[in-house]
Amino acid sequence: MVLYAAIGQPSAIVYLGERLDNTQAYEQLRTLRSRTLGDGSPQVEIPITLLCDPGSGSTAPPGIALHRDGEACQSGLVVKAVTHSTDALQIVCGDERENVLVTHDFRIDATNTLVCTETTITNGAGTPLVVDWLSVLCIPLDPMLTDAILLSGRWAGEFKQTRQKLSRSGFVCENRRGRTSHDQFPGVVLCESESNERAGQCIGVHLGWSGNHRIRVEKLADGRCLLQVGELFLPGEIRLEPGQSYTTPTLFTAFSSTGLSDLSASFHGHYRENIEDSRVKSSSRPVHYNSWEAIYFDHEPVRLLKLIDEAAEIGIERFVLDDGWFRGRRDDTAGLGDWTVDDTVYPEGLEPIIDHVHAQGMEFGLWVEPEMVNVDSDLYRAHPEWILGPEPSRQLPFRNQFVLDLARDDVAEFLYRQLDALLARYQIAYLKWDMNRDLNHPHSSDGAPSAHRQTHAVYALLDRLRTQHATVEIESCSSGGGRIDFGILKRTDRVWTSDSNDALDRQLIQRGASNFFPLSILGSHVGPARCKITHRKLPMSLRAATAMFGHMGVEADLFQLSADERDELKQAIGLYKQHRELIHKGRFVRVDASNNQNIVGVVSADSRQALFSIAQVATNPDNLPGILRFYGLDPRYEYDLQVLWPAKERFPQAESLGGVGWNGPETFSGELLVLHGIQLPLMHPEQCLIYELRAST
Ligand code: DGJ
Repeated sequence: MVLYAAIGQPSAIVYLGERLDNTQAYEQLRTLRSRTLGDGSPQVEIPITLLCDPGSGSTAPPGIALHRDGEACQSGLVVKAVTHSTDALQIVCGDERENVLVTHDFRIDATNTLVCTETTITNGAGTPLVVDWLSVLCIPLDPMLTDAILLSGRWAGEFKQTRQKLSRSGFVCENRRGRTSHDQFPGVVLCESESNERAGQCIGVHLGWSGNHRIRVEKLADGRCLLQVGELFLPGEIRLEPGQSYTTPTLFTAFSSTGLSDLSASFHGHYRENIEDSRVKSSSRPVHYNSWEAIYFDHEPVRLLKLIDEAAEIGIERFVLDDGWFRGRRDDTAGLGDWTVDDTVYPEGLEPIIDHVHAQGMEFGLWVEPEMVNVDSDLYRAHPEWILGPEPSRQLPFRNQFVLDLARDDVAEFLYRQLDALLARYQIAYLKWDMNRDLNHPHSSDGAPSAHRQTHAVYALLDRLRTQHATVEIESCSSGGGRIDFGILKRTDRVWTSDSNDALDRQLIQRGASNFFPLSILGSHVGPARCKITHRKLPMSLRAATAMFGHMGVEADLFQLSADERDELKQAIGLYKQHRELIHKGRFVRVDASNNQNIVGVVSADSRQALFSIAQVATNPDNLPGILRFYGLDPRYEYDLQVLWPAKERFPQAESLGGVGWNGPETFSGELLVLHGIQLPLMHPEQCLIYELRAST
């Protein structure tokens, strides 16, 4: 990225692309891209400045919109100061007439070709300043970036990847759900029309924010194109009193000239090196058992003890007790807010359960949903005034629950005390932190909009708990993948990727999520044979192979498994344990595949080990599937290639093609594996094959 920043002048991004060696290139960059003036246009070209502020005379959509209680504030921002070090840059822009200061902070992660940016606006005047819109930046897009890749979706169908051509009308994606949302991921990839997983230029941006957001791509009439990303404000939400500031969430911007998988590698690398917390960094991600799909609200200590024994038996390392353990919570109409153990169900408290989990050599985890309350709860009876928005009868019903107004100090303090008491009393290694409704009525009792404050209050509560309980890990769940972003990941360690455990859907959900997030954080569970959400029945071999390529867990009634299924699951858990360092720390690649297959791989940093997973998600359009080239291997090495999965039974049809690797390791040259590739065996839908490769020289 090259920025222009001269004192007294507007500042702008003048280059975003491959790293330049010529650091003095600014004048040349400008000359090379200087444009003739079009008829019917201003006599000078209006630059796309860092915020396209209205004071610049630009008719492009501004990246900043301000007023002072209804009176226009047409800021014209020029550079006041620039400071920089090797990996940081600060550009301070100001508007003396309007008394507004805007500071852009850039941090450069050179290893991962990624830049983090935050923008701060400060009201220097004596009257309040209302901020209607503040994009973190206005990024001019190179005309070669003709395609946009978006991740949209729905509950139980998150991260659906769609690719569209940028049309003259551009597009706007807005999320007003008050959480990151299942349907509008706060990120986008822009790429060339020829870009694919391993070639082509692309940039990816992600806003690390768990509230409302807006992404805007605008094509200007003069042929230029720009991108804006920022928090979406409700009317009047950001009102700065004299001297007050607002800082945007962090915008993560990465670039790759070698395709989409490398772009993802930048986000994954940045996460690992800069966001991942020390409590998980150096340890292996343990295999989870989650009780939800096995028992729902039907908690019975005796049955649970048996489930715990069985979980330990198949290799589970962390047992997570989901919803239903606390006072009055016999279904989803009651109990939220009362975070003490239900003694009608657990007369001896949770100790016997937790002790048993520990005795079986596992860690214990517990589900909570602190931000919510049911009307049928002691908390609501005591404090009906604590909910966000109007009284319940005037609110949109949503899973029988209401959002607590966390921006109130008394509410935040109460929740902290409740959670702190739980963590102090019980040996809890892990919290699954759920959040199961949108902020449909995001106004505090004083009438002020509160989506912004609510999001910061959730962050503050998490931060406070994590400081006090430095070893407790936290999972971000929001009806599955409704709150997955780098903002929440700064204070949580894993996400529940989706409520759907349907392995065929999961293959694509996890592929979509991998655009920005590493496999190590993507909670991925083996569900019951018949998925509770899609009602599709899928074999254990596919369910287990799908869960292995994530942070593996199991979420099914273990007593419903057949002996064969149990064996196969146990084998998969063993393989996951054997390979999890590679799966979680290796370089992740998505392979462009036709024939209705999802192919992904992980390759170790030294390229000496790799796993490639090929899942057949629908029938083949051709007689035979294609060729798989093992990108990421080192052509100089020889590799032993073998089928790692399915471990139990080979595909009957594999024999017809000679079945490479089915009878143990076979050695091939790395050069041939990368350049020539392997003919994949005929696969039927719902089959999944994992190849293991190990360098032998
Ligand atoms: C929604 C979550 O996504 C599920 O995994 C489960 O924890 C339920 N909430 C419990 O109510």
